[in-house]
Amino acid sequence: MRLHGKTALVTGAATGIGLAIARALAREGARLVVADIDLDRARHQAATLCDGAMALAVRMDVADPASVHDACGVVRAAGFEPDVLVNNAGVIHVGTILQTELEDLRRVFRVNVEGVFNVTKALLPGMIERGGGVILNMASLASVTAMHDRFAYSATKAAVQMMTRSVALDFVKSGIRANCICPARVHTEMVDNYLKTSYAGKEEETFRRFSEYQPIGRMIRPDEIGHLAVYLCSDESAMVTGSSFLIDGGVLAGV
Ligand SMILES: NC(=O)c1ccc[n+]([C@@H]2O[C@H](COP(=O)([O-])OP(=O)(O)OC[C@H]3O[C@@H](n4cnc5c(N)ncnc54)[C@H](O)[C@@H]3O)[C@@H](O)[C@H]2O)c1
Repeated sequence: MRLHGKTALVTGAATGIGLAIARALAREGARLVVADIDLDRARHQAATLCDGAMALAVRMDVADPASVHDACGVVRAAGFEPDVLVNNAGVIHVGTILQTELEDLRRVFRVNVEGVFNVTKALLPGMIERGGGVILNMASLASVTAMHDRFAYSATKAAVQMMTRSVALDFVKSGIRANCICPARVHTEMVDNYLKTSYAGKEEETFRRFSEYQPIGRMIRPDEIGHLAVYLCSDESAMVTGSSFLIDGGVLAGV
């Protein structure tokens, strides 16, 4: 049990990558807070994660500081003091700069950037007080290389990269480690949804094209992100901070 005795809060944990990370951390003995804007789904997933006493579901809109504040109050009142924070909640926008309205840009920044800011600010002081903790942020391959039609999304994920390093550097002496994961395409509802809305009529062809873009020839499975998350959230990675980890099926290996 690599996370025995630890408490982890995962945002956006009701489905997709967040759920896979929550499951992987729970399997390693962590108590889990499943935080999501969709409370019903978070409750359902928390009940299936591990022993009921070990998992708590809370409604949290990471983009709204009041919601984050209230959710953290519920978490503390239930006796959960997170040692591990996984800032996973995120949204996408598909389009070039000319296909991006200011409100699209702001919406994606509110969740992907301000969300990381709001939740980290709420939980970091408690971690410092208790002598340390781990922060794991979900960036993206789009944070290290440009991808077609991901203007707003890439900008937010590049910000996540630098927020990760800033926190890592500023709080290293307080026992805090901060790292981020940069996945290429992971087959989740996010992908299925944007295939329907932004690639209507070409869903299958685009799914194939996106899979083949990754030299291994398929999209990543969410559980494959969970394995790396366990390493980065456990003491096995005690010397790792301020780093970003690609899981890209070989995309950046070369052309
Ligand atoms: N799927 C991919 O190809 C991929 C690749 C790289 C990075 N990522 C990143 O991984 C993270 C998870 O992606 P996913 O594919 O699992 O997404 P998803 O859309 O399948 O699931 C996202 C979850 O976050 C929740 N959520 C959305 N907005 C929220 C908010 N404001 N507050 C709290 N919860 C909120 C949703 O309810 C949902 O449960 C995101 O940050 C995403 O940008 C995804």
